[in-house]
Amino acid sequence: MSAIAKSIPKQVKFSTLSQLKQHAKDITQPTPQPEYKFGKLSNDQKAFLDRVIRVDQAGELGANYIYAGQHFVLSRTEPQLKDLIQHMWDQEVHHHNTFNKLQAQRRVRPSILTPIWKVGAFGLGAVTALISKEAAMACTVAVETVIGGHYNDQLRVLNTKFNDIETTEVLSGKDETGSVISNEVTELKDIIKTFRDEELEHLDTAIEHDAESAVPYWLITDVIKLTCKAAIFTAERV
Ligand SMILES: [Fe+2]
Ligand SMILES: [Fe+2]
Repeated sequence: MSAIAKSIPKQVKFSTLSQLKQHAKDITQPTPQPEYKFGKLSNDQKAFLDRVIRVDQAGELGANYIYAGQHFVLSRTEPQLKDLIQHMWDQEVHHHNTFNKLQAQRRVRPSILTPIWKVGAFGLGAVTALISKEAAMACTVAVETVIGGHYNDQLRVLNTKFNDIETTEVLSGKDETGSVISNEVTELKDIIKTFRDEELEHLDTAIEHDAESAVPYWLITDVIKLTCKAAIFTAERV
């Protein structure tokens, strides 16, 4: 061993490694969660959650059918897009299934216009795909822009209007229907955030695939955006 190596104390020689190990240990240790007791949701909060689940289930059903319509046409006319459309469609199927489960868990009644959403959405996907692949992508831009914004609006309410459920007065984390309130709201927020990010990925994908070359781009996207907003307004209520 050289004189220089001998002169370095052991703890100095291995300090970087031990620091890394400690750091790895720190980040793998679960952070202890504070224990909260949760109060009951107000009637307004319950009504809001029901509305969120009803409209999101209907919206994801719509998205599922739009991509089904696009896939039906584009897999034949633009086979190079088949896998891409399938990938986005698979994500929409997952979104739709997730809200189906939430709807069953919370016993939220579905939108009574469900058959109309299915036919309208499949038609929208298929017709824009028949016009051109750019028109199909412009449709995706319009739909995902509206859905992304809609999810952000819901997150804003969930972040601001549900904070008062923390309380020391109520003794358990259950309300009278037996649902665990705190986890329910937290999980819903996580789901919406994840789906919002995936919708915005779909939006980026559509831009990358020449959505803005659709003719007339602004007319197609504006009409579809208005249609989506009207559908959201309706599905929240009926
Ligand atoms: Fe979706
Ligand atoms: Fe999407």
